Amino acid sequence: MKQKRDRVGFAIIGTGTVAIRHARAIQEIECAELVAVHDVDTERCLSFAREHNTEAVLHLQDLLANDHIDVVTVATPSGTHSTVAIPAAKAGKHIICEKPLETTLEKADAIIETCKENKVYLAAIFQSRFGRIVQLIKRTIDAGRFGKLILASAQVKWYRSVDYYASAGWRGTWELDGGGVLMNQSIHIIDLLLYLVGNPREVFAYTDLLTHTGLEVEDTACAAIRFENGAMGVIEASTSCAPGFPRKLEISGQNGSIVLEDDRLIRWQFTEEYPEDQEIRRKGEIGEGLHSGAGDPKAAGYKGHKQQFQDMARAILENREPLISGREGRRALELICGIYESARSGQPYRFSE
Ligand SMILES: NC(=O)c1ccc[n+]([C@@H]2O[C@H](COP(=O)([O-])OP(=O)(O)OC[C@H]3O[C@@H](n4cnc5c(N)ncnc54)[C@H](O)[C@@H]3O)[C@@H](O)[C@H]2O)c1
Repeated sequence: MKQKRDRVGFAIIGTGTVAIRHARAIQEIECAELVAVHDVDTERCLSFAREHNTEAVLHLQDLLANDHIDVVTVATPSGTHSTVAIPAAKAGKHIICEKPLETTLEKADAIIETCKENKVYLAAIFQSRFGRIVQLIKRTIDAGRFGKLILASAQVKWYRSVDYYASAGWRGTWELDGGGVLMNQSIHIIDLLLYLVGNPREVFAYTDLLTHTGLEVEDTACAAIRFENGAMGVIEASTSCAPGFPRKLEISGQNGSIVLEDDRLIRWQFTEEYPEDQEIRRKGEIGEGLHSGAGDPKAAGYKGHKQQFQDMARAILENREPLISGREGRRALELICGIYESARSGQPYRFSE
């Protein structure tokens, strides 16, 4: 994992919606350079390259042969991530993979193993973890200020139109989206739930398709979780809730509770008030200027991607693992697969210890 240059070369595979955030993020990082992009859709690849002032490479193998590319970001439909990440890792490229890592645990594990075998780093995109407020909550939980964690709830009451699902053939399919509102829209908050509260022991869930007639996957889900540490949790998620509210995470402990709405900390209350709490509430309520994707997926900002890409660039230059490894990225996928299994079987799903 040696890096001789002082700038890290990036290439983006898949030049669709999220790739715009990738390009903006990379181009704002001082020690990073966007060397090339590739897409199976030639027109899209060429126009994206023109717009972002970079090279369009029409064959993946040609891109992988370029020694100036150190990192490949995978921004293709979810169920194709392994078909891009595996050859890229075999070619010695570090991988930043969009969420979910893949659509099944088997395919995600194949990516993780290939990166390990080829001694390249793998970062799973969960940009929300990099937020200042999320980091503050994490530190506060780890320091024990909440006391025993009691309840956690994650809500994604969003709206996605018929046009959204029609905007690309892979959306809302089991094979390429890997599921519906849970796997696509809610995976970020599910990752935060696991990151902040801990691993699940058991889940029971209902899923259904309530409004988007014709989709294979769920547009609405509700799950009850028992965590390994004894806390209980609920996930409520839908893309049928007009007009779409900010996503919400509530965590309550024996000694304090918080509520996070998108990137705004709207409650921060503990039984014992600390001198800094008022300032935390004041700043927290303003938020971090991240745009919500509650009603429109294109409205989301790229600040989180920038922080995560910066971490990968530094990881390479410093010869260390990126902060969100493939194993970390796999956790939310495992919980979502457990939720689907419970909804299918009508039984609770127990996670192996
Ligand atoms: N982190 C986030 O907040 C976030 C937000 C949106 C999307 N995503 C994820 O990003 C991925 C892409 O989503 P999107 O909304 O940009 O999709 P999109 O349909 O807008 O773009 C996907 C692009 O990939 C191309 N493509 C398909 N197969 C390919 C292949 N084998 N090789 C090269 N190019 C290929 C398509 O032609 C298309 O241009 C998904 O996994 C999605 O879950 C993440």
